[in-house]
Amino acid sequence: MTWKFDKKITKIFDDHIIRSVPGYIDGHDFIISASKNILSNGSKVLDVGCSNGSLLNKIDKKLGLDISYYGIDISKDMITSAKKNKTSKRINFYEKEIHQLKNKDFDLIISYFTLQFVSPSKKISFIKNVYNKLNNNCYFLIFEKVIENSGFMQNFLNLAYNDFKEKNRFSPDEILKKSNSLRGVMHPLTREENFKNFRLCNFKNINLLYKNMFFEGYIMKK
Ligand SMILES: C[S@@+](CC[C@H](N)C(=O)[O-])C[C@H]1O[C@@H](n2cnc3c(N)ncnc32)[C@H](O)[C@@H]1O
Repeated sequence: MTWKFDKKITKIFDDHIIRSVPGYIDGHDFIISASKNILSNGSKVLDVGCSNGSLLNKIDKKLGLDISYYGIDISKDMITSAKKNKTSKRINFYEKEIHQLKNKDFDLIISYFTLQFVSPSKKISFIKNVYNKLNNNCYFLIFEKVIENSGFMQNFLNLAYNDFKEKNRFSPDEILKKSNSLRGVMHPLTREENFKNFRLCNFKNINLLYKNMFFEGYIMKK
């Protein structure tokens, strides 16, 4: 079975992703904290691949500012769920890809474990669209699952990640099935490859913000 962000997944999404991604909540908290430095009344924020919209709801609640929030996702079921969960009229969700958005004046664009699902041939176009839709001197915050450069590290972290999943009550059979279902669906790169792509799309001040096993967060500026 191929992995899909469909209705079945929306029902179990929060529990599943928290048990699957080490530091999932910490990453959200990190973004909320960074948002406090970046945003003010009148700012515009875009979350690409917002899933059920929980991150934008959390940022809005913590900041309590007059900010316009846009969440987009290619999954119709995720957007239906995001619209149901929405906690403020400042937040809007759309079933769209980034190139379909007309706005070009965002102060912050977030991609939280989304680019890894974009096929290798479309990654540059995705990042260029992010760049073009930001105001000058504004920020792109992106978290990605990565692969390691060294075989030693890849193997070491694989074992640690399997232990993490077993500790979080996934059976060996579930771990194998999930990993097979992601073949051809998830396309992670190394940090160096990601940074090269960001530079190619003209981003500057590209920095590693966070790392937990294979899961990394980066911040950069237009
Ligand atoms: C791992 S989930 C993202 C988790 C979410 N950002 C969060 O904070 O919980 C990946 C999401 O990206 C969406 N997605 C995949 N490719 C996309 C694309 N090209 N544009 C927008 N969304 C995309 C999927 O439908 C899915 O909802």
